[in-house]
Amino acid sequence: HPDFIIDEKKGLCFGKVPLQSLTDHYGSPVWVINADILTSRFQKLSKAFLQNKMDISIHYAVKANDHLAILDLLAKEGAGVDIVSLGELKRALKVNINPRKICFSGVGKREEELKAAIQLEIGQINVESREELHLISKIAMDTGKKAAICLRINPDVDARTHHKITTGLAENKFGIAYEQALQVYKEASQLDNILPLGFDVHIGSQISSVEPYKKAFLKMAKLVKQARKEGLEVSVLDCGGGFGISYYDEKESDPYALANLMQGIFSSLNIRICIEPGRWLVGPAGILISKVVRRKNNGPEAPPFIILDAAMNDLLRPAMYDAWHGILPIQAEIYKRPLEKQNIDGPICESSDIFARQRLLPQLRENDEIAILDAGAYGHVMSSSYNARPQALQLMIKDKRLFVIKPRQTFESLWNNETIPNG
Ligand code: LLP
Repeated sequence: HPDFIIDEKKGLCFGKVPLQSLTDHYGSPVWVINADILTSRFQKLSKAFLQNKMDISIHYAVKANDHLAILDLLAKEGAGVDIVSLGELKRALKVNINPRKICFSGVGKREEELKAAIQLEIGQINVESREELHLISKIAMDTGKKAAICLRINPDVDARTHHKITTGLAENKFGIAYEQALQVYKEASQLDNILPLGFDVHIGSQISSVEPYKKAFLKMAKLVKQARKEGLEVSVLDCGGGFGISYYDEKESDPYALANLMQGIFSSLNIRICIEPGRWLVGPAGILISKVVRRKNNGPEAPPFIILDAAMNDLLRPAMYDAWHGILPIQAEIYKRPLEKQNIDGPICESSDIFARQRLLPQLRENDEIAILDAGAYGHVMSSSYNARPQALQLMIKDKRLFVIKPRQTFESLWNNETIPNG
């Protein structure tokens, strides 16, 4: 992890900013997003595709981290967005993203959501079924607009990732079956007020090898050729997101390898390529800082339990996907202690409220602080206030300076819009 330095005096530094005294000012737990890292990751990604002279649109998958400061930063870098709800659409508009740069994905878009998107004439709606296609045509006619669409295809390719985040298998709910794709695209070209742009594929998330992508892209290239042979116009191929990062020992997806793969398969098609990365951009740019509340031993044999003040309500990924996140102590003095296998847990009374099992770390004691790494994607967005735990404060590091980008949720706000019925 090149963005982390352990300094003998300053302790753990994140992108050169020492984390040692943060909780004195802001309390604990705290999220920290490093905007400098996010920017450089975006630039690295776009450079990889641009050097291949590809006609490429990068649509950041808002769901990974929807904070306005992040959307604003990426929009200023030139990114478009991939949204999945009216809420995400409103967030995108809030930071003045051009509707033309918005792509709307999702298997269950509601009529009011589609209506809002069509009225705004957003760049592209990724259609997941024939039923949705007909509804879009109807709404577009009613509003007197033309809706630009791509058909999301289910290529029946195994992304070989965690089963809960695989989306491209026939057994998954996503997309239109590959075999029906051409027929539905023909139908789209005959429907009123529909502008068929092309096809879309997204096979899953946290994909660390290029093989599944290759399989899916080859199928998509074939489909584009078939459609054109039938005289149908195809100008866009949306390749989805899913680029993996390195949580443990997985190799981070190499944007150059992906760009080369796409270039190799699609260059002869003369087509605009879209990608929808979320995790790859923002994951490594965020951490969750937490304090040790208690160190307890449940017997001489078992590793000690280190109970944090952060829990599954803050970072759900370990509980939900058995996800492995790196953990680094913050204070310099901790690094002088002996290494020991420790269980790192949250305080919630569920056995899934776990951050790490038997993790080899310097001995942790009460009030020590640790950073949970790679928490920028699917971290804060998936948090709740379960156990009446207010959601943690969010900080942003920008030009090595610190900004509070969202205060800690107040206790008051946990219940202030609840009512007790009388009688
Ligand atoms: N496009 C579509 C249509 C998607 O469904 C997703 C993610 C993305 C793009 C962005 O994928 P990414 O580049 O971030 O892998 N909560 C899970 C991940 C769920 C991903 C859902 N779809 C986790 O914490 O691992």
